[in-house]
Amino acid sequence: MTKKQLEESAAYLKSKGFEKPEIGIVLGTGLGQLVTEIKDQTVAHYHQIPYFPLATVEFHSGKLIFGSLGGKKVVVMQGRFHLYEGYDFVDITYPIRVMHELGIQKLFISNAAGAINLDYKKGDMMLIEDHINLQGGSPLAFKNVGEFGERFVDMSEPYNLKMRKVIEQLADKHNISLKKGVYASVVGPQLETKAEYRMLKILGADAVGMSTVPEVIVANHLKLPVVAISVLTDECDPDNLQPINIEEIIKIANQTEPKMVRLFKELIEEI
Ligand code: HPA
Repeated sequence: MTKKQLEESAAYLKSKGFEKPEIGIVLGTGLGQLVTEIKDQTVAHYHQIPYFPLATVEFHSGKLIFGSLGGKKVVVMQGRFHLYEGYDFVDITYPIRVMHELGIQKLFISNAAGAINLDYKKGDMMLIEDHINLQGGSPLAFKNVGEFGERFVDMSEPYNLKMRKVIEQLADKHNISLKKGVYASVVGPQLETKAEYRMLKILGADAVGMSTVPEVIVANHLKLPVVAISVLTDECDPDNLQPINIEEIIKIANQTEPKMVRLFKELIEEI
C-alpha cells in the first residue's frame, strides 16, 4: 500500500460523485437493509475502484454507496473484506483508509457476533466498549507504516466515548435494549469449539466474531472516532452447544437490523 494508491482510489470515487462524506459506515453480515434508507445514492462496486482488494467470488456484490442519511452525507460499505477469505490485514482495512481519504470524520461499524456472555441472547444488540484481538496479527505491522501515522498507536479508549454515550442515551430514549461489552475477534471461518468458547469467556469476552477489530485499529491509527455495534446472532453456550446454522445467523441479523438502523440513523442526526 502506498499513499499514491490511496489517493488514486479516492480520486476515482470523487470523480464518481463521492464528494465530502462526513460519516463512514461498515455493514456486517446480514445487515444490508440500511442501504434502502440512503437518499440520492451513488454506487461504486469494489471491483471498479482502483487498488481495492481483488474481489473473491462471494464478494461480487460488495459496493460502496454514497448518499445522505439522517441529513448527512455518508459513505457505506455494503460487504466487508475478511481475513478468512484469504486477504491480509492491510487489504481488509484498505477501504477504511480510502473512506478517511475521502474526508469522513466519524466511522460506524456493525457486525454479527456470537454471544459469549450468556446473559445476552440472540437478537440482542451489544455496543462494543473494548476488544481483544485474537487474530494473530495487526493491520499496522507493515514496513512503511510511518508514512501513514504513528506505529505505536494508543488503544486505551479505542471506541469513542462521546458517541457511545450518545448511542446509550438514544437507546434509552427509544426503549431499545442495548447491551455493552467486550468483542473478541478470531480469524475463522470455522466456528469455535466448546473449549474455545470456554476460553473466550475466561479471557473476558462478551461476544466473538471474525471482523471489526482490524478496522477499529486502523481507525485509531487515523485518529478517526469510531463506534461499533454487534448484533448477537447465536448463543455460545459450551455446555449446550448447538451445531452452527448460518441461515439462522443471517435470519437473526436481518430481524434485528431495523433496531440497529434506527440507532445509527438517530446517532447521525444527533452528532
Ligand atoms: N463465532 C464467531 N463468529 C460469529 C459467531 C460465533 O459464534 N456468530 C456470528 N459470528
